[in-house]
Amino acid sequence: MKKDILILAIESSCDETAAAVVKNGREVLSNIISSQIELHKLYGGVVPEIASRKHIENINYVIDDALKKANTRLDDIDAIGVTYGPGLVGALLVGVAEAKAIAYATKKPLIGVHHIEGHISANYIENKDLEPQFLTLIVSGGHTNLVLVKDYGEYEIIGQTRDDAAGEAFDKVARAIGLGYPGGPKIDKISRKGNKEAIRFPRANIEGHPFDFSFSGVKSAVLNYINSCEMKGQSICEADIAASFQDAVIDDLISKTMLAAKKYNMKKIAIAGGVAANSMLREEMLEACKRNSIEFYAPSLIYCTDNAAMIGVAAYYEFLKGTRHGLDLNAIPNLKLGEEIKVM
Ligand code: KG4
Ligand code: ZN
Repeated sequence: MKKDILILAIESSCDETAAAVVKNGREVLSNIISSQIELHKLYGGVVPEIASRKHIENINYVIDDALKKANTRLDDIDAIGVTYGPGLVGALLVGVAEAKAIAYATKKPLIGVHHIEGHISANYIENKDLEPQFLTLIVSGGHTNLVLVKDYGEYEIIGQTRDDAAGEAFDKVARAIGLGYPGGPKIDKISRKGNKEAIRFPRANIEGHPFDFSFSGVKSAVLNYINSCEMKGQSICEADIAASFQDAVIDDLISKTMLAAKKYNMKKIAIAGGVAANSMLREEMLEACKRNSIEFYAPSLIYCTDNAAMIGVAAYYEFLKGTRHGLDLNAIPNLKLGEEIKVM
């Protein structure tokens, strides 16, 4: 009988300290996430220095918990997977140093994982039938990309944001209308009470680049709208602003994704990243896929936002391909997808 492959995965690129044990690439035995959100809320956003300090305090407990919940010991693990970029450098370093220490002490293989490869791979956990090729829309706090997944670990970026990421726009608009941090889930919730047709905010198209995004215009339009209401002494309706803003962003994300699916003849679309947790994006993307006879995939909410299970899945496929990193692995805050250091 074929031996099971167990990956211990570590994720610390932003404000979640996370560890997971993943069996044979698609079965999550444990998924521990220690969120720092309550702490960063006080400052209205992630404070990098605080994030690193919290990671260093928590990481050993989180890993210990992940091993215990999976009913495994370090001895049973086949390889250590860790996010080494992109992300906050001080935050990434904690996970990378920890993974290297474990790999060194146990003499197990070390596999550095691109954070976005992790987000994409989150789709494999619950969709056992999903295999490349497919089109993915990645929408997180730091990224907005349309990516063709050609094979496991093989990607072609066909579209990206020229300025703000979708999640960043959600967070900034939420702050402007006084909803606080993190903005995405709050806008999602309050939008349900608002009228998405109340205000027409702009959708940006970039000439000659049909799959690229730009969200700084819609964000500025919201800020201008709020300022002009204040100057005229008019009260604002937060729910209407949130719903109209959300509609502008989602409309743009879906129309460009559908256009890309047609152009590249993709019959499967997956979404990934924190903004993929947005209820309206999920509903409307599903509808658009149904209308176009496209199969739609989305991870459940816990696997959309940052977690280590998705890193374990990505590490498993890299493991099968023979990717191994040395003990000189470093954190790369601006690591590009497809340009990872592949040490075989
Ligand atoms: O993927 P993620 O956890 O971290 C990064 O890699 O950036 O994404 C975090 C982003 C934040 O901007 C957050 O506001 C957004 O995802 N987000 C949402 C929702 N849940 C999280 N945005 C819209 N609707 C949501 N329900
Ligand atoms: Zn992320």
